[in-house]
Amino acid sequence: MEKVLLRNVDAPESHTLEVYRARGGYRAWEKALREMAPERVTDEVKASNLRGRGGAGFPTGMKWGFVPKDNPKPKYVVCNADESEPGTFKDRLLIEKDPHAVIEGTMIAAYAIQSHTAFIYIRGELSFGATVLQNALDEAERAGYLGKNILGTGYDLDVILHRGAGAYICGEETGLLASLEGGKGWPKVKPPFPATHGLFGCPTVVNNVETLAAVPWIIDRGAAQYTALGTEKSKGTKLFSVSGHIQRPGVYEVEMGYSFKRFLEEDCGGVRNGKKLKGVIPGGASMPVLRAEEIDGVTMDYESFQAAGTLLGSGGVIVMDDSTCMVRAAWNIARFFAHESCGQCSPCREGCHWMEKIFRRIEHGEGRAGDLDLIQSISGNIAGNTICPFGDAASWPAAAFIKKYREEFEEHITKKKCVRME
Ligand SMILES: Cc1cc2nc3c(=O)[nH]c(=O)nc-3n(C[C@H](O)[C@H](O)[C@H](O)COP(=O)(O)O)c2cc1C
Ligand code: SF4
Repeated sequence: MEKVLLRNVDAPESHTLEVYRARGGYRAWEKALREMAPERVTDEVKASNLRGRGGAGFPTGMKWGFVPKDNPKPKYVVCNADESEPGTFKDRLLIEKDPHAVIEGTMIAAYAIQSHTAFIYIRGELSFGATVLQNALDEAERAGYLGKNILGTGYDLDVILHRGAGAYICGEETGLLASLEGGKGWPKVKPPFPATHGLFGCPTVVNNVETLAAVPWIIDRGAAQYTALGTEKSKGTKLFSVSGHIQRPGVYEVEMGYSFKRFLEEDCGGVRNGKKLKGVIPGGASMPVLRAEEIDGVTMDYESFQAAGTLLGSGGVIVMDDSTCMVRAAWNIARFFAHESCGQCSPCREGCHWMEKIFRRIEHGEGRAGDLDLIQSISGNIAGNTICPFGDAASWPAAAFIKKYREEFEEHITKKKCVRME
C-alpha cells in the first residue's frame, strides 16, 4: 500500500523543510494558492470523502463548507493537537516526524475558508513536539510560505502554536476554544457549532492533526486517488496506535477496510509471550471493548467497527491478553474519566466518581450484590445527558466491560477478591 500519512516519517531529517520539500512538500500549498479558488479546495476535500480523524469521523470538506462566506468577522482554523485519549499516540508521530505536513494541511484549510490566523493547540506534555513544530513554523515563514503576501499572491496567513496545560477535556473542540481564549477549558453546548460561533465568537474550523496531515496529499494528487483507497464509505487510510500486550506495538497506517484480525496477528505480530487475546479496545479508552471472538470478520473502517458494537474513535488499539483482570482494566479507565471530568454537569461530575468508586471496591473484594446493575444505571444516566460527549466517552467503556465480561465481575463479588491479582 502506498503510504499517505506516514509517507515521510522514516526519511532521515524528515522534520526539516529541506527534506520535506525534496519529497514534494508545499507543492499542494503552491497549487492551492496559485491555481485553485478557495471553494475549489473545499470541493476537492469534499470529493475525497475525508472524514475527521479526531474521533467523531465528521466529513471534513462539509465542515469547511459550513463556514459562512458572508460573515464579516475574522475566521479561524485550529489544528487540534491535544491528543490525550489513552492509547492514542498517532498525532504525536506526525508532529515530531512530519511537522510540515501538519502545518501545510492547516494552511490549506485556512486558505479554503479564507482565514488569516490559524492556531495549532498542542497538548502541554508534548514539549518536544512543540519545539519541533515551532522550528518548522519558523522555517516555513522564512521560506515565504507563511506571513504577508505569501508567494506574491496577496494572501496573508499566520499560524500560531499554543501549548495547553495537559487537560483531557481541552481536546474537546469547544473546551479547546475556551482554553485558547484564555479561560477554563469548559465545553459549551452545541449548537451553535464552532463553524459559525467558534473562537472569540467567530467562525472556526477545528480539525485533528491526522485529518489535516492528509490534506496536502489530497490536494496534490487529487481526490480521485484518495477515494481509490479504502471501502465504499470509509475512504483513504487511517493511523492506528497499537499498545498493550502485543508483540509489535507502534503506529501503523492501514488502508480502510483491512482485516482487524490479520492486522493484529500478522502486522502487529500477535499477542506477546504466546498468550491468548482476551479483549481489544479499537478506538481509544472511551470506546467499547470487544471480546476476542468478536473481532472475527471485523474490518478496520467506520462501518465495520460500528456494526461490531464499538467505534473506530481515535484508532487507539489497546490489546489485552488472557492474564488481564477486566475489572482492574475497567477501574483504570473509570479512574481516568473521574479525574478528567471538568465538573460542569452533575451526571458526569458525580457519576464518573461513583463508577470509579464502585469498580474500585469490586476489584478490592468489597463489591456488593447489585453493584453491576448500579454501574449500568449510572452509566445510562450519564450518556446523552451532558453538555459535551465526554459523558458518553466515560459511560460507554464502563457499560461495555460489564456487559462483555459480566461473569468476571460477578466472580470478584462472590469470591470477595480478585483471583488474577493474587
Ligand atoms: C472528551 C473529548 C476529547 C477529545 N479529544 C480530542 C483530541 O485530543 N484530539 C482531537 O483531534 N479531537 C479530540 N476530540 C474531538 C474534537 O472535539 C473534535 O471533534 C475534533 O478535533 C474535530 O476534528 P476532526 O473533524 O478532524 O476529527 C475530543 C472529543 C471529546 C468529546
Ligand atoms: S460532560 Fe463532563 S467533561 Fe463534558 S462538560 Fe459535562 S462535566 Fe464537563
